[in-house]
Amino acid sequence: MSDEPNLKVFHTSDQLAIAAAELFVACASDSQRESNRFCVALSGGKTPKQVYELLATDDFRRRVNWGSVHLFFGDERAVPPDDPDSNFKMVDAALISKVPIPVENVHRMKGELEPEAAASQYEATLRSVFAGQPWPRFDLIFLGLGEDGHTASLFPGSEAMREQVRWVAATRNPETQLQRITLTLPVLNHAKHAAFLVVGRNKAQRLSDVLSDPQSHKLPAHAIRLESGELEWLADAEAASLL
Ligand code: 6PG
Repeated sequence: MSDEPNLKVFHTSDQLAIAAAELFVACASDSQRESNRFCVALSGGKTPKQVYELLATDDFRRRVNWGSVHLFFGDERAVPPDDPDSNFKMVDAALISKVPIPVENVHRMKGELEPEAAASQYEATLRSVFAGQPWPRFDLIFLGLGEDGHTASLFPGSEAMREQVRWVAATRNPETQLQRITLTLPVLNHAKHAAFLVVGRNKAQRLSDVLSDPQSHKLPAHAIRLESGELEWLADAEAASLL
């Protein structure tokens, strides 16, 4: 396996969003052909919103068989689903409310519950969808990169970063002290396909830190090494400006 990161740099975040939406469509049709379903875990934050909005447009919406798409979340803030900080709220407004996906196929992390309870409940959901598997194998996972090098809600030095048994963990953003729920590292690393979406000059230093030293274990994003899947990085020119 080469050390060279599979990196694609786009002039603009619009072009990056189109490429990410195309990736979603391609992975969906491959998985649905293979196993009649497409299990995808979405990232939160600001960067992926444009991708979700694109997927809801005519051009993209009709190219996806939403009937067998199962939407999951890579992480969630410990807030109710109508809270401005809720990742579900963002994805619902941008995508879920605009495409014909069965309600039962939208697997939301219950941010309104006590985080440990929400994490256990979500693990139970995953264990029923991925029944009999040692780890869930998502067809696609979208990931973001925080300025501190976190991804999903796996923060530097956090206990959740060290979790090797549970599929979902409760954690806390060390900066805001806000509680979060997150998929754990082994789950992320068992994906068939994962894509980091990185936009903006404020991410340039961190992206360079991660990609220039792939063997390092310093940052959570360094620890994304898929067991047997394809990992790619989609960055805009600003984010890639130090590479
Ligand atoms: C979240 C995310 C988180 C995010 C990064 C980047 O809930 O915030 O899932 O991991 O991807 O913090 O966030 P931005 O895209 O907002 O910069």
